[in-house]
Amino acid sequence: MLTRRGALFAAAVAALAWCGTSASERSSLRGQETDTERAIEHYRQMLKDDPWSNPGLLDVDRGETLWATPRGPKNVSLEACDLGKGPGKVEGAFAELPRYFADADQVMDLETRLLWCMEKLQGFNRADIIKRPHPGGGQPVKELGAIATWIAHQANGARFAAPSAHPKEKEAVALGQALFERRSGPFDFACTTCHAEPGKRIRLQGLPHLASPEEARKVIGEWPAYRVSSTHVMTMQHRLYDCYWQMRMPELEFGSEASVALIAYLVNKADGGEITAPAIKR
Ligand code: HEC
Repeated sequence: MLTRRGALFAAAVAALAWCGTSASERSSLRGQETDTERAIEHYRQMLKDDPWSNPGLLDVDRGETLWATPRGPKNVSLEACDLGKGPGKVEGAFAELPRYFADADQVMDLETRLLWCMEKLQGFNRADIIKRPHPGGGQPVKELGAIATWIAHQANGARFAAPSAHPKEKEAVALGQALFERRSGPFDFACTTCHAEPGKRIRLQGLPHLASPEEARKVIGEWPAYRVSSTHVMTMQHRLYDCYWQMRMPELEFGSEASVALIAYLVNKADGGEITAPAIKR
């Protein structure tokens, strides 16, 4: 155990040392880059191998409690919330989202559905929740995000199989693809600018080729994920919010049609990919 922790620490130091270097030091370190990348990969692998080292599991527990606790103006729990498999059925539900919900007459991803249940069942005010839906650096994931983390975790080992028979489900995937490929904003970026080629990266951050099913299957099922650099769980809605921000686009509204469509597109690309949430990200 001690040796294991020692090795984990050494790998973490190697990974963090890179972040603490200046630009000129970095360029002289280029030759060692592959070693550094290997050390970071090793560090991540060790975190994965020891599930108790993942702080995201604390939010899984928090989410489970929140789900079952009577809350909101109506003081009821979320146990009657239908995630697509019937009221209160959680296990495996995440693998079949986003999907069309007849009661809302729209396609929803997990977080949008939770927002809907919090509003309709518990009486929370939607506008209040979506005003600041994501945590700042160092803050824990918000309550809705913790519940989403628990639900995603309950689908671990399942493979993405979001339904696609309903016309609105087809529409959502098509809209997501159009948004993914459309260049816009002051930088004229599309998602494809950063995520449509293999092996691309910004500094040391790998940019997954999300338009390729092979890579999408590897990473999409890892969200919500614990992000080491911001020390909290980040949900998929939050991840996309941040990418929109990087594109200098108007804020991506939580639960908006655009956000659900992008997630529908990504999950469609990841169809058949395994769910392993919450994973650990840099
Ligand atoms: C300017 C480049 C850029 C653009 C444009 C961009 N992203 Fe990203 N994306 C990133 C970076 C950087 C990361 C995080 C890499 C890291 O933290 O290691 C990321 C990560 C992601 C991830 C998580 C990948 C993983 O490793 O699990 C997803 C999903 C994603 N982006 C989706 C999108 C979508 C959808 C769009 C378009 C709305 C988009 N991105 C536009 C740079 C970009």
